[in-house]
Amino acid sequence: MPKKFHEMDRDERLDHLKKETGLSDEEVAVLGNPLTFDDANRMVENAVGITSIPLGIATNFVVNGIERLVPMAIEEPSVIAAASKAAKIARLQGGFTADADESYMIGQVQVVSLSKVAAAKRRVLARKKELLEIANSKSRSVAAVGLQVRELRDGSPNRMGRMLVVELTADTKDAMGANAINTMCEAIAPKVAEITGGEVVLKILSNYATKRMVRCRAVFDKDELGGSEIVKRILYAYALAYSDVYRAVTHNKGVMNGIDAVALATGQDFRAIEASAHAYAARDGTYRSLTRWWRTKAGHLAGEIELPLAVGIVGGVTAVHPTAKAALKILGIKSAKELAMVMAAAGLAQNLAAIRALASEGIQKGHMRLHARNIAVMAGARGEEIDIVAKKVADGPVTIDRAKQILDSLRK
Ligand code: MEV
Repeated sequence: MPKKFHEMDRDERLDHLKKETGLSDEEVAVLGNPLTFDDANRMVENAVGITSIPLGIATNFVVNGIERLVPMAIEEPSVIAAASKAAKIARLQGGFTADADESYMIGQVQVVSLSKVAAAKRRVLARKKELLEIANSKSRSVAAVGLQVRELRDGSPNRMGRMLVVELTADTKDAMGANAINTMCEAIAPKVAEITGGEVVLKILSNYATKRMVRCRAVFDKDELGGSEIVKRILYAYALAYSDVYRAVTHNKGVMNGIDAVALATGQDFRAIEASAHAYAARDGTYRSLTRWWRTKAGHLAGEIELPLAVGIVGGVTAVHPTAKAALKILGIKSAKELAMVMAAAGLAQNLAAIRALASEGIQKGHMRLHARNIAVMAGARGEEIDIVAKKVADGPVTIDRAKQILDSLRK
């Protein structure tokens, strides 16, 4: 029987990746040796160093019938194991089924100091073609495909008056698209000011990517989950996450454990992803679960996630960060849409794993078993001692003192 990924040592895992994904020796080398200081110094200001975060591979994912090894960058134990476990259960019923909208992003141009707001709006709409042409003159790869105008009442504490928001929609294809949209908004701003007779203030993309939705569904076998009673308890957990903001935030934090970890591994703007996801979770005025769970006729657990997800596989960090490039190659995705679908699957898997554990044995047992290795290291264990001490310490209270005692007796 071939070794499972988690049973392999690092060299074996890397060999497996080379075989399965066609990663070259150079690409494998950057997995342990990511950015140089010069790279970092070019990317941000006042650079003094580089921080690092573990990069692992979640296994067992099948998304739309395609096997995916999913790179996840995360400092928290249990997440990668949990995602892999959930994906393993999902694959018994065919894996994850996902779909994604086109890569449409919205850019906003804010117009204030208008005496006749409705008339200004009409004039902008009448010049739509011309404005789109200006926007499109700024990019070869990204296409502005739509323009709308919204009139906003003054709800501000400072009484700044009514205003217009001119919104460009652009197809950013395989890019996240922030730069292109911002450039387009800045390009049309003078013409918008001229047409409206108003003052343009902000010109910036919206991270609320509601025209770039991704959806993913999966069915989880009831027996693999631990039986009908566990399915019922998971549905209780979902009921709480749907109705109560205190639980919904934690529930969605579990979802984002999966999504952010893939985002970080592949060089995405995870702050944008977070902001958009949480706004969507509150779209009906109450912050709710990003996932939906129900029982199928056969008694299995079905789940679905839907969220706006703006990701890119060209440009931005993905173009300059060697580890992000290698992570994209490991995933084997061909488009931003495919990446969004895998990320949604990771979010759904992560959520299932968390609520399954919470609805049954609780999360601390598994978590502490994995954390035991950190505790063993903190107690002074080195090399082979780490696993031996971790295993023993996990049988009781996982504390540094216990780990030290175990290590002392091992060394004697
Ligand atoms: C921990 O990082 C995430 C969980 O709290 C998520 C949840 O409670 O659903 C376990």
